[in-house]
Amino acid sequence: MDLLLALKTNIVSVVMAVLALFLLWKIRGKQSRFDRLPPGPAPNLLLGNLLQFNIKEAYKYYLELSEKYGSVATIWLANTPVVIISGYQALKETMIGLGEEFSGRAIYPLLMKSTYGYGVLSTSGHRWKEMRKFSLATLKNFGMGRRSIEERVKEEAENLVEMFKKCEGSAFSPADMLLNAVSNVICSIVFGQRFEFEDPQFKSLLRTVNTYFAILSSPLGQDVMVFPLLSSVLKDPKLWKNPNCFDPENFLDADGRFQKNDAFVVFGMGKRACLGEALVRIELFIFFTSLLQHFTFKAMVPPVELDTTPTNCSFGRMPRTYECYAISRK
Ligand code: HEM
Repeated sequence: MDLLLALKTNIVSVVMAVLALFLLWKIRGKQSRFDRLPPGPAPNLLLGNLLQFNIKEAYKYYLELSEKYGSVATIWLANTPVVIISGYQALKETMIGLGEEFSGRAIYPLLMKSTYGYGVLSTSGHRWKEMRKFSLATLKNFGMGRRSIEERVKEEAENLVEMFKKCEGSAFSPADMLLNAVSNVICSIVFGQRFEFEDPQFKSLLRTVNTYFAILSSPLGQDVMVFPLLSSVLKDPKLWKNPNCFDPENFLDADGRFQKNDAFVVFGMGKRACLGEALVRIELFIFFTSLLQHFTFKAMVPPVELDTTPTNCSFGRMPRTYECYAISRK
């Protein structure tokens, strides 16, 4: 009986060892198959470069890589190679110059599952092309980029001002109110109605969307993925005066008139660029002007001490929440 047990244990150990060796051989094979990829830090056989950085602040590591290896570098996320493209020129040449070749999207399992593989954000190829064309046409049909949408945004801005007024005299966090306002704009476009801030169904919808974005992060292994590093353009000292703070001079010509700045790539570049840009621009303009015409904002700490770095930087950037005073100007 003992002999049988010992034999069994040995067989299991041998099978496990053979399997482990086979796995390592496969991974090594995959890594050497991509020998001609751009340069990058040496990967660990099993985890690639995953142990070398904090996944929540991956962009910081990517920026360091671009300084060390230039505008095109490779890292390994476990056994998937990722090519990081940085700098305005390299991004323009790839995302715009080779727009068609760079129009695919990594597979994000949660995104695929929740959209049943149909979302414009998550698809690639023919399906994505059709979805993008349809989504743009539909949003335009509903008034995106036209005056009719401005009326809805203005209505929302008025509600926002009223909500801020109620908080006068005490410190408050505007995050939920702002989320409520931008979500209501899209709700009134899509559902034809807005929701009250206290509506429990609306609150639960917003909570779900927020959580969803916070966990939407890890892409599934593919052959080679490409990350266009937009922050490398947005923080490039050669393209921006005072790249770490908002300096209006970056958008003004010598006579103080507005001037478009091509390095302002917050909406992405090329064929996958943001589909909601026209709507966002209207919202930003109307919300900011309405709020600044009604209130003076005061931070709880001296402005230089405010931490404006994002809390999570994987799929998108999650801003920090903070408290402030909104003091009526009239
Ligand atoms: C301040 C707000 C926003 C910013 C900064 C922003 C920025 C971006 C960026 C950087 C991308 C990715 C581009 C790429 O993959 O290279 C993107 C994609 C996208 N955005 Fe936005 N976005 C905003 C708001 C919106 C809104 C309000 C909508 C909807 C009306 C929207 C719809 C989309 C869609 C559908 C995509 C995917 C496009 C595709 O894959 O073809 N975005 N956005």
